[in-house]
Amino acid sequence: MLTRKDFIKKSLEYNLFFARIMKEHMIFIESGLLTIDSTLVLEGEELKESFEDILKEAINLANGAVDKAVLNSNELVTNYTLESEIITEKLTGICINKDLTKAELDLLSNSSFTFTQGLESELEKLNERAINLVKEVISYKEKILKKLLDCKLFANLYPLLIDHIMREAIYYLKALESLQRREEPVKDILDNQIFWDTIMMEHAQFVRGLLDPTEVELFNTANDLAEAFEDLIEITKKAGPKDIPKVTKMALEDTIEIRDFKQAGTEGLIDCQIQVIAYPLLADHILREANRYIRVLKSI
Ligand SMILES: [Fe+2]
Ligand SMILES: [Fe+2]
Repeated sequence: MLTRKDFIKKSLEYNLFFARIMKEHMIFIESGLLTIDSTLVLEGEELKESFEDILKEAINLANGAVDKAVLNSNELVTNYTLESEIITEKLTGICINKDLTKAELDLLSNSSFTFTQGLESELEKLNERAINLVKEVISYKEKILKKLLDCKLFANLYPLLIDHIMREAIYYLKALESLQRREEPVKDILDNQIFWDTIMMEHAQFVRGLLDPTEVELFNTANDLAEAFEDLIEITKKAGPKDIPKVTKMALEDTIEIRDFKQAGTEGLIDCQIQVIAYPLLADHILREANRYIRVLKSI
């Protein structure tokens, strides 16, 4: 049973991280669709704006209440997020609310913050709104995935990418539902690691598949990282509770490695030094997902 303080902190933490992730998924989908699918684009656009509202509200409620470790982990925003958004908006024509990013960069932690009943009920309402919205986004992603698999849609989107971002949405939904029941969102450390190790492996696979064929060195690094996570997932699947310290250490090492690769990639995309079918916000997004996983692993 979560205390009021934990409920407030975790609700803020999950919504700040995932509402941004969800709205960026909409940007990725939109940028991969063609003119013939303008109805899907409009639907995605509406969902993106709704998540920006959730994020805005979470930011308004968050000042002082979030742990320093979360703010310092670069999981909510990085030093590259704002610039990545500016470039991505220019390249894709998709509107991105940058005021939210500026407000997040200004968030502070206050160790003597008072966790009131009023704030608890505000967050309960916000979680409920987010739950309804995530359910909508899951069906939207399901619809796109089905169309892709049935060859009813051509898009510059890997089916695995849609499946991947759908799993991230389901993870967010389950976390919110647990929080509403005042339960800890992460119930099994090893299952949670298998989930995030798979996410990290797929990031490496996406990068490998989006690089220009001339980027041989980066291609090989991405391939090595994908294989490292594939091995780690196999080890973690066979692990029991007594192996947690060992597999956590391995996961931390691999994730730091992929984080550094993603960070260099984000810088390379901002500086136009890498030939790849991607824009900076995509790199910054997967960088934040690694940053979050690193904080979680360190807390174990
Ligand atoms: Fe994501
Ligand atoms: Fe991801």
